[in-house]
Amino acid sequence: MSEIVIISGSPNVASRSERVLGYIGGLLEDKHFTVTHLSVRDIPAAVLFSADFSHPSVTDAAARIRGAKGVIVGSPVYKAAYSGVLKAFIDLLPQDVLESKPVLPLMTGGSPGHLLALDYALKPLLSTLKGHALKGIYLTDDVIDKNLDIPVLDGDCLSRLEKQTAYFAELVRRQHSRTHA
Ligand SMILES: Cc1cc2nc3c(=O)[nH]c(=O)nc-3n(C[C@H](O)[C@H](O)[C@H](O)COP(=O)(O)O)c2cc1C
Repeated sequence: MSEIVIISGSPNVASRSERVLGYIGGLLEDKHFTVTHLSVRDIPAAVLFSADFSHPSVTDAAARIRGAKGVIVGSPVYKAAYSGVLKAFIDLLPQDVLESKPVLPLMTGGSPGHLLALDYALKPLLSTLKGHALKGIYLTDDVIDKNLDIPVLDGDCLSRLEKQTAYFAELVRRQHSRTHA
């Protein structure tokens, strides 16, 4: 069972937010966590559209999330909030699936003007699943280069991302020690 599950909420196959999520996953693997990735694109469109709660792609995803010690949820900003497809996926998950878990939210947007989408949209959504959301990370497109090994160009943004990741890792470790005490 993976200790950390990373969920990508972008419908885009060449996604900026997913690239950054991959980088964060690498940082956590360097700290010896096991990390697995889930994408909204793993769920068939017909399942999302018909709200097929019992489809194996949904029940498997829910089991993986429930078994994790910590979860990272990333989304592009779409119309000042998270992507609609991420919401369609989250609507299918049990309402306590993130209970007692540290959750690191990440959003990428074209404009700094929608930074508060983290606080007004994504974090309240994660709270409905009973997750403990951290402050979170917001990056604008101009500081992301998907083709680089380190995809965050700006030093301050990268340092914030690394600090949030380290804090998340510490909370996951504590969570792990509590359940194995
Ligand atoms: C349909 C759509 C709506 C968007 N709406 C916003 C928006 O309201 N505010 C914003 O800052 N960026 C907006 N953007 C830009 C994306 O949030 C940004 O390019 C993001 O990094 C894309 O992430 P992705 O490559 O992971 O999908 C929008 C992009 C699309 C395609």
